[in-house]
Amino acid sequence: MQVSRANAEAIQAWDGVLFEKFSRFRAVLTAGLSVHGTEALRRHPPREASRVLDLGCGFGDTTLEIARLVGPLGSATGVDAAPRFIEQAQAEARSAGAANARYFAADVQADSLEGPYDSAFSRFGTMFFASPVAALRNVRKSLTAGGSLLMVVWRRREDNGWAHTAELAVREIIPPVEHGDEPTCGPGPFSMASADTVSAQLLAAGFQDVGFERFDTDICIGKDLDEALAFAKALGPAGEMLRLAAAQGIDETARVDAALRSALAPFVKGGGVYGPSSTWFVSARSS
Ligand SMILES: C[S@@+](CC[C@H](N)C(=O)[O-])C[C@H]1O[C@@H](n2cnc3c(N)ncnc32)[C@H](O)[C@@H]1O
Repeated sequence: MQVSRANAEAIQAWDGVLFEKFSRFRAVLTAGLSVHGTEALRRHPPREASRVLDLGCGFGDTTLEIARLVGPLGSATGVDAAPRFIEQAQAEARSAGAANARYFAADVQADSLEGPYDSAFSRFGTMFFASPVAALRNVRKSLTAGGSLLMVVWRRREDNGWAHTAELAVREIIPPVEHGDEPTCGPGPFSMASADTVSAQLLAAGFQDVGFERFDTDICIGKDLDEALAFAKALGPAGEMLRLAAAQGIDETARVDAALRSALAPFVKGGGVYGPSSTWFVSARSS
């Protein structure tokens, strides 16, 4: 894999600290994220027997879902810049006996994507490129003429209380910190929230027929308040703020824990903690 310099720091973060955090909270994350991915695939199912590329596939569970949808005559290929995610995905596809799923490590912005594919899909895997237009252009080049793209991306943070509520609570306590030597994940989870920006990026990358569908649903961020607190402190904007602050010796654990407990308490319902979430299903066609 030829790592573009622009994404080198983000890839270091994804293959290091973020891989470890995603592994620790995998059950919570995958359950929450899959509500959005599965609904997007239900509305826009890949064609049977088609070849689909899954961008920024992480542990590869969406790749397996797509492999099942396209059937044995089709194929699902997961690509991710972080080799540790790819190794895990390959091992799980082997034990699931998914003969039509494969994975490879590559930077979507800089490397060959080994096409051609009939379509590309991504569940939250396209918001971290240093240059989204360059990355989307590379995706388009890997598609057949008229091939489709479907991306699930977070809408604006104000409609994503599952993450933003914790972010606001932590920001009250932790001063803004420089990220120093700590690697960060790139533009970030809300970088594709603006439909105007993303439609301009897609058109610049050579896509057409751009469409946006909004999908709102509450997602589980923990089986109880303790797990939701641990999740908020590890991942999302609040988790990132705390990680960078800790690297600079800032420790406000007691105040942060108290603030997060009271901010997240209204989300406790029946069998878990559920926060509001909102995504765009972005569709486009290669010209
Ligand atoms: C939020 S995770 C989503 C993972 C998975 N799609 C899911 O829904 O569980 C973002 C993923 O994008 C990957 N990623 C970030 N930058 C990338 C790049 N330049 N090329 C390929 N993958 C990238 C990360 O390694 C990570 O696995």
